[in-house]
Amino acid sequence: MALERTLILAKADAVVRGLAGEILARFERRGYTILGLKLMHVTPEQAKRHYAEHEGKPFFEGLVAYITGSPIVAMVIVGEDVIEGCRATIGATNPIKATPGTIRGDYGQTIGRNLVHGSDSAASAEREVAIFFRDDELFPCANVLGDWVAAK
Ligand code: RTP
Ligand code: MG
Repeated sequence: MALERTLILAKADAVVRGLAGEILARFERRGYTILGLKLMHVTPEQAKRHYAEHEGKPFFEGLVAYITGSPIVAMVIVGEDVIEGCRATIGATNPIKATPGTIRGDYGQTIGRNLVHGSDSAASAEREVAIFFRDDELFPCANVLGDWVAAK
């Protein structure tokens, strides 16, 4: 068990479809703690940094256009093994392969509109949180056990 942070994005399609609240609620109901939360417009520079590992792939330009095209809801979530837990709640990258009960399995149809992003490792999470949040946009909170969780 490790206390970790993760970056979750309710991507543009989720916000347009009115599913941002549903996505946030799924993480809240697991008992995770929300340290940061905002509606924001992603700049092309932020999008390219966030998706740097995919640069050069055929879907890269579409991915950047998709996430910069209309606002997203970004959140920083903390909890024990939260990275793996959130990715389990999100489901497989391709919604057709995602298990019903996961976000993508319940609401998604295509890999290019799969609603939500979750960091895939502790190193990715720290890199990604810094792309989307300033330190003063993260708030220390009490967690479900009553322990105080620091913002950093
Ligand atoms: P995410 O980063 O969004 O949480 O998703 P993931 O880890 O499950 O998937 P990843 O491999 O990191 O891909 C990032 C996003 O790129 C889009 N994608 N399209 N057309 C394609 O073959 C393809 N492959 C990936 C998806 O929107 C995916 O979430
Ligand atoms: Mg990924």
